[in-house]
Order: sequence, then C-alpha cells, then structure tokens
Amino acid sequence: MKISIMGSGYVGLTAAAGFCKLGHEVICMDVDKEKVKFIKSGNLPLYEHGIKETIENAIKQKRFSITTNLSEAVDNSEITFITVPTPEASDGKQETKFLNTASKDLGKELKKKNVYHLVVVKSTVVPETTEKLILSNIESESGKKIGNDFGLCVNPEFLREGEALKDFLKPDRIIIGEYDKKSGDALESVYKDIKTVIMKTDLKTAEMIKYASNTFLASKISLTNEIGNICKKLGINTYEVMKGVGLDHRISPYFLRSGIGFGGSCFRKDIRALIWKSESLSYDSKLIKEVIKLNENQPHKIIELLEKKAGSLKGKKVSLLGIAFKENTDDIRESPAISIAAELIKKGAKISIYDPKASDNFKKIFPNIHYFNDIEKCLFKSDACLILSEWEQFRQLSNVHFSKMKNKIIIEGRKILNPNMVDNFEGVCW
Ligand code: UDX
Repeated sequence: MKISIMGSGYVGLTAAAGFCKLGHEVICMDVDKEKVKFIKSGNLPLYEHGIKETIENAIKQKRFSITTNLSEAVDNSEITFITVPTPEASDGKQETKFLNTASKDLGKELKKKNVYHLVVVKSTVVPETTEKLILSNIESESGKKIGNDFGLCVNPEFLREGEALKDFLKPDRIIIGEYDKKSGDALESVYKDIKTVIMKTDLKTAEMIKYASNTFLASKISLTNEIGNICKKLGINTYEVMKGVGLDHRISPYFLRSGIGFGGSCFRKDIRALIWKSESLSYDSKLIKEVIKLNENQPHKIIELLEKKAGSLKGKKVSLLGIAFKENTDDIRESPAISIAAELIKKGAKISIYDPKASDNFKKIFPNIHYFNDIEKCLFKSDACLILSEWEQFRQLSNVHFSKMKNKIIIEGRKILNPNMVDNFEGVCW
C-alpha cells in the first residue's frame, strides 16, 4: 500500500521503517527543511537499532522518500499517519498546536482529493482529541464528510526505545480505534502480515488504552521502587522478592526492576497529561499522582546513600557511568541522571561521566562536566562511582576497572554489576 507519514520524528521514522519492512511504499513529510535535507542525504536524526539500514535499503528499492511538500505526500498515498509530537505545554497540559496545524493542513489537501483517503492518528493524544480536534479540523478545512470521503482511526504505538523496530514488527497487540468499520478494515489490511492480536475499539477507547498502558507500567515501577526502599531498610534482597512476586502469572516478571526510577520521553509526560485530563473532568487521580512523586524522589535515594558512605560531597570526584535514561539509546529525556548530576553539582562535587552514546546530549545541559570515552580514565582517582544506566558492557566490569579509584565507593542505581567480578558495591534498593 502507499502510505504517507506526517512528522518525521522518532515515531514517524520508526513506523516508516516498519512499513517498508512490511513491503509498503512510504513517503514521509516534515515541515523542518533541514531535517528533510539531512534524511535525504542518508542520515537519521536518531539512534535506533535497525532503522537506518532499513530506510537505506528502502531508498535503494524506491520504497521510501521524504518531502516537505504535503500535497506530494497525500497525492501519492492512500493512507496518512499523523505522528507529530504532543509535548507537555505547562502543568501537564498536552500541547496540541502541532496536531492542530497538521490536521488543518491535511484537511486542505483532502479538499483537492477525489478518492477515499484514510487518516490514522499515531501521535499520543488524550481521549477525545481525535474526535473533537482532528476530525473537526479535517471536516471544516476539507468541506468533506467522514465516512464516504475519508476514514479515521487511532492506532497507538507501544514502542520501546532501543527495541522500536522489533516491537513494531512483533507487537503484543495492535489496537485499532475506528470511526467506522470501513476505516478499521482499511487499517487492518496495512498490518495483514503481522501475526498478533488485533483489537478494534472506538476512537477514544484506543486513545485511553495507550494512557492506561503507560500509567500501568510506570505504576509497576514506582510500586517496585517503594518495595525496594522498604527492603533496603530491612536488609532484604528486593530483586529476590520481586522474582518471587513475578512468578505469579497475574503480575508477570516484567517491569519489576527497582532502581533510580523511570525516565524517557513518554511515561512522565503521558501520566501528567492523564492527570490534567482527569482534573478537567473534576476527578482527582490520587494514586497516579503518587506514581510521579515517588519517581521524582527516587534519584535522591542514591545521593543519600552516597553521602552516608562518603560524607560531605564538597570537592569530591564522583564518576557517573551511564547517563542515558536506559541502555541502548542516546536519549537523556527525563533521565534520572539529570537530577542526580544537578544535585551533585549543588553539593559541590566534581563530576566525570562515561556513557557509550549519550554524552553529546548531556553536554547540552551540563557543558562543564568532564566527559570520557574510556571507563577507567573516567574512574581514575574518583572518590565514588554511581552506575545509572544498564548498558550491557557494565556487566563485564571487574575489580581491575575500579582499581585506580581513590576511594572504592561503588553504588548501583540500576542492577547490572556482577558480584563475582566486583567486590564491595551496594545498590540503591539492594
Ligand atoms: C515506554 C513504554 O515501554 C512504551 O510502550 C511506550 O510506547 C513508550 O514508553 P521507553 O520509554 O522506550 O518505552 O522505555 P521502557 O523500556 O519502558 O523504560 C522506561 C524507563 O523505566 C527506563 O528509564 C527504564 O530504565 C525504567 N525501568 C523499566 C525501570 O526502572 N524498571 C523496570 O523494571 C523497567
């Protein structure tokens, strides 16, 4: 099928690569001329396993192109996916200005089109947005009526950074929120080669499934961290506890790893948007608010533990290994490492950092920290080392790597070190 995608950010480009893998023809569209030029010249503005190679191959096979011209994208496709960003505006409120412009522009293009076109919302939008904002913009700008002239679906993504293409091609489920059966069936045919459960709902239910999923996952982590904080005080190994807990099939073994809390571009933003939406409906979502509060406090736990072991941090050299919000990404958005670095600086510590991918992004916030390409050089003469992301290479660290530290204080914020290879380290909750 011929697919156009509005918005060439993380979701748009991952979907583009996924659709190319499924054999579709994809035309991406973005308003950012520089970005389009950059991608046209064979580069990608993100690091994500498998995406660059897939897009390169698709360009060779003439199944991928990118443009700033929306007419070109809409004219050359039967379906348009909207994947523009929906960041936080203020106080959790969802910023819809990109969606507003994109849906109006799309409406103007559909006015010129004489054949049925399907519009699919993949951006994460709070319930009711597709019907109240997007549908009404498209109808008013195009002068057309949903049903016969165009169709509309909500199709949330559940991609994990670092695993996005894999998740796209092998999802646990595909959620299709359909305005009518014709729209849903057209979207289902796009995914016909993916073997998974397809669940069809109305538009606002599909929007809510995305928020409920992210809120549930984040709650699982905050609850795990709360249990971890209690276990730490009791001298109980929380990882053993959660292993036992995860054996219950109603709970599952996933998302039970305690540590310095969740980061990333989605969880906090989406949960705050849900709280904001609830408040607009006069509902006070107390439990969900606590999930965020607990997560905001979790990074401080590692500093508390560090001060307990090292005393005052003034003038001390603290090395941070891993600053990305998780492994296999250069993304530092909402990374707990940001608040940890800020607190260390406030307390007068001197920081040195090693991360395989994320240093350049961190430098934009903290230009005066020392960044290293080598772990041992980073650790040289350090008073303490904090491990903040689960990069696979940290699993291989041994006593030798830590031998040139001034004081061997090692604290894990993520459980990754091998106790058979490193002596005397402690975890934030273990
Ligand atoms: C998440 C959702 O998983 C995905 O479905 C959604 O579409 C986007 O948001 P992502 O942000 O890529 O994906 O990361 P994820 O792997 O979910 O991890 C989020 C954060 O939680 C990371 O900081 C991770 O280290 C942390 N985490 C995860 C824990 O602290 N403990 C766990 O047990 C699992």
